[in-house]
Amino acid sequence: MASNPSASRVDPIGGSFSPSTGGSASAPLDGPDNGDKVQVTLRINGDDHRLRIDSRTTLLDCIRETVALTGTKKGCDHGQCGACTVHVNGRRVVSCLTLALLHDGDDITTIEGLGTPDAMHPMQAAFVACDGYQCGYCTSGQIMSAVALLKEPCGPDDAAVKELMSGNICRCGAYPSIVAAIQQVRKNA
Ligand code: FES
Ligand code: FES
Repeated sequence: MASNPSASRVDPIGGSFSPSTGGSASAPLDGPDNGDKVQVTLRINGDDHRLRIDSRTTLLDCIRETVALTGTKKGCDHGQCGACTVHVNGRRVVSCLTLALLHDGDDITTIEGLGTPDAMHPMQAAFVACDGYQCGYCTSGQIMSAVALLKEPCGPDDAAVKELMSGNICRCGAYPSIVAAIQQVRKNA
């Protein structure tokens, strides 16, 4: 897809970091107790969130709508674009394809937990340095996958990186810069 130079850019660390979202556990949410609600505790970016949610809530919707961490993006909502990628117990997961209740007690990391504007994760810094984004909508998912890739078996060349990043779609076509950013981090690791 051709790039769109006029597209607005967003903060490569997710555009929604707020210090107020960290530091304390969330209070249980109130709501009608209609029998479909379940109690779940998610440890997100180091903070325990005790939540009462609809049993059908996806992890993605729980993160975005209930916990209000909107750096994780919803693209296709069908497991096909990778925009919703987060880490669960250190491994990447497309959060639109799993229910939040399945992750009671799990350790979840979102883009907000990776770094801050003043102290970016090396992968976030590399995306900035390599111009690895245009509109930025896919970027948090790209970065979460890229960070997970660092711990996965991956060959040294660009083709191997492309293969392991093939679940993350970029409609702006920033792929060459994304691969360059990942390779820069791997080289310096
Ligand atoms: Fe989850 Fe597209 S929103 S894979
Ligand atoms: Fe726009 Fe990837 S930077 S979709």
